Amino acid sequence: MVFLYPQRQHDLIPQARVPEADLQLAQAIKSFRASMFQLFQREIAEATAASPEEDPNRQYRRVRRALDTLAEVQEIHHRRGRLQDWLWTQVLQDIDADRQRLEAIYQRSQQGTGGLALNPDLKMPAHQLKTCIHRMPGGYLQALEADAFEKGVLYDHGVFLYGCGWFGPLNDELGQTLIHHVLNQHYPNFQPRTILDLGCAVGHSTLPYASVYPQAKVWGIDLSAPLLRYAIARARLLNQTVYFSQQNAEQTDFADRSFDLVVSHILLHEIPAVARKRVFTESYRLLKPGGMMVHLESRLFLDPPTLVARYFRDTEVWTNSEPYLASSKFGRCTASNDLGKTRNAIVFEIVDEQTHRGL
Ligand SMILES: C[S@@+](CC[C@H](N)C(=O)[O-])C[C@H]1O[C@@H](n2cnc3c(N)ncnc32)[C@H](O)[C@@H]1O
Repeated sequence: MVFLYPQRQHDLIPQARVPEADLQLAQAIKSFRASMFQLFQREIAEATAASPEEDPNRQYRRVRRALDTLAEVQEIHHRRGRLQDWLWTQVLQDIDADRQRLEAIYQRSQQGTGGLALNPDLKMPAHQLKTCIHRMPGGYLQALEADAFEKGVLYDHGVFLYGCGWFGPLNDELGQTLIHHVLNQHYPNFQPRTILDLGCAVGHSTLPYASVYPQAKVWGIDLSAPLLRYAIARARLLNQTVYFSQQNAEQTDFADRSFDLVVSHILLHEIPAVARKRVFTESYRLLKPGGMMVHLESRLFLDPPTLVARYFRDTEVWTNSEPYLASSKFGRCTASNDLGKTRNAIVFEIVDEQTHRGL
């Protein structure tokens, strides 16, 4: 099976110009990743065979130096970047081939429930202006065309292909996981009435909150106007009511104690350590008494369990333009219901490895 879940083809997903092309791309991604991990595994086993008892950090540094200089490994890194570029190019071609239909659906979804508040004067944090994360053309912030749908479609369909369906039919597995495996399991009586999703992008993880907690007012904030414009259209298309707003999660416009629940999903690994601290402080300020914050991240990124996983993570920094991925060493996943006496938090504990200066 190439895709872990089939994609739900809602109306803002481009109808593939060549239906087999997505399948071919996903197959190429999967077989490439398998061969890449095999190579890392083999070379790392060789590099560590002589000194299995070495201090893990020293061992890692030595392994890293050894692998980085191997021609075969360098070629693999080069291909990682090229594969990612192929993904974006293919989605852009699909969008081009289906532009008129997508444009019409997008325009039709401009009216409806929920809301969108953009702030053209919002000052962008410097850390998000330095690179195009995941090599996505134009990054998150730059619209590919004025006031239109293209950036959102690119992200929506691109994420599905990148994950080979791992994020679920609607790319909403992260939101579903947090609701069903964290909140429902550990806090079955928790019924939030005001919910905020930080760094919501196109609302993949935001929509499940609107669906599972119909009594709640759900907000999603992000820096990116083009992604938010798409997010509101997509939410309406999928019959969910969400209020999207262009804001900085490190310092929002909301009043103190506005939310019962503040969440983020895979935001933390894309911002530097200093910004993560601000996000935690801000989340805490926004919580009502009895409220809760939960920040969901991938263990592979935050606490890679093996040398292979750590080498993969650290080389994603430049092969896949993930500048902040390796900027923290982790620690534990901390779950506590008494971090703030009256307000609760479940967070991944972050131990800074380096301070980012000049941000
Ligand atoms: C990996 S995407 C998040 C995906 C999304 N949470 C989901 O689950 O589908 C990271 C998002 O965080 C946003 N972002 C980065 N820094 C931010 C900040 N300081 N405030 C608000 N959004 C931010 C980016 O614009 C991008 O859309």
